[in-house]
Amino acid sequence: MERTKTEHPRREFLKKCGLTAVPFVLPAVDWSAIAGGTQPARTIDSPKVVNFIFDGLSLSPSQYLEKLQEINTASPIEPDFYGNGGATKALEASFAKITGKEKAIYLPSGTMANQLAIKLLSGGNTKIIVPENSHVFRDEADAAQSVHGKRLIPIGKEKAYYNLSDLKNAIAYTTNNEVFQSGLDTVVIESPVRRADGTFVPLKTVEAISNYCKERDYKLHLDGARIHIAAAFHDVSIAEYASYFDTVYISLYKYLNASGGAILCGDAQIIDQMAHQIKILGGAVFQSWNQTAVALHYLNGIDERWREVVTVSKKLIQDLNKIKGVRITSIHEGTNIFDLTLDEGISLKKLAVYLYETHSIWLGRANEKGIVKFTVNESILSRDYDAILKAWQSGIEQARS
Ligand SMILES: Cc1ncc(COP(=O)(O)O)c(C=O)c1O
Repeated sequence: MERTKTEHPRREFLKKCGLTAVPFVLPAVDWSAIAGGTQPARTIDSPKVVNFIFDGLSLSPSQYLEKLQEINTASPIEPDFYGNGGATKALEASFAKITGKEKAIYLPSGTMANQLAIKLLSGGNTKIIVPENSHVFRDEADAAQSVHGKRLIPIGKEKAYYNLSDLKNAIAYTTNNEVFQSGLDTVVIESPVRRADGTFVPLKTVEAISNYCKERDYKLHLDGARIHIAAAFHDVSIAEYASYFDTVYISLYKYLNASGGAILCGDAQIIDQMAHQIKILGGAVFQSWNQTAVALHYLNGIDERWREVVTVSKKLIQDLNKIKGVRITSIHEGTNIFDLTLDEGISLKKLAVYLYETHSIWLGRANEKGIVKFTVNESILSRDYDAILKAWQSGIEQARS
């Protein structure tokens, strides 16, 4: 059958999403694309994989089922009924507490959380200011325009994040140059910024924007899909960061390892309207405990674990940088994504295949500039530190030509 314009091969899709660091050796990736490569016998279910690719653990279906079983054995999971009761209500209560908001609600996707937040915050107004590189602007299939009758105004092009003067300029420009003032009172920030390799929007930038929005009675929404990661790397409390926003969305699957789902936190006045809106869009799912129980499990103790990820990854990067030909650098205001480059005499492919086959360590591909986005996550804690370092040291030796 002929491919339609909207069907993209997996790799093309990942590239367009800004996810160029596709794994070297994941079975789902076309193995033949690696010169001379044959698929190894080892499967994705290898126990205790240490991955330097994702924000989370990337559990296989059988690992996910085992985890659910383990959670259920420790304390029977209570089911929800359309989000009412059970693990879903418990997760909502936890997130309301973490963000310091009155209420929180489960939604089936972050896209829906972002879209419904900006829809309800803006009410009858139609203009929403969004970061040009944000998920809301680039990756939500024009839902704001086509479903909710909103016009997104992108700002901060070619910057990791916009600042207060960018915002003021954009507001002045639309106010002075449009005949019909159809209403602008909602602003979005994404932090950390996925399309800027996890750059964190600093507290002082957020504070300045938030104060300005409050003065003008504008509403502010945070796409904080990966906020715990940023909080750990920048030693910021989530409640403090969230206090500058009216609504905050956090993903359940990026680093909380659920199979999907999202949480939106905010005032009762906004969150109480959500269930109806979710239903209108067909997003009211019968049961969500299979996601929320897993997210709740990983939420428990998350701050301590991610603080340890920060410490261990800093040490690992220092030690790896001592190996001749290896360079790992951090990005400005970065979080868990670093730039890895290898000298010409070291084959990335040989290193990645060796690490994968011999040590169940996953490494991503290089981008067009030859940089591998070296991403750290909780999996780094699942193995003895010296074993990880030794694996890398011998991998690099094997990969030298
Ligand atoms: C920053 C950001 N916001 C929102 C989303 C949307 O999440 P979902 O896939 O649950 O719709 C993503 C997912 O990639 C994201 O990275």
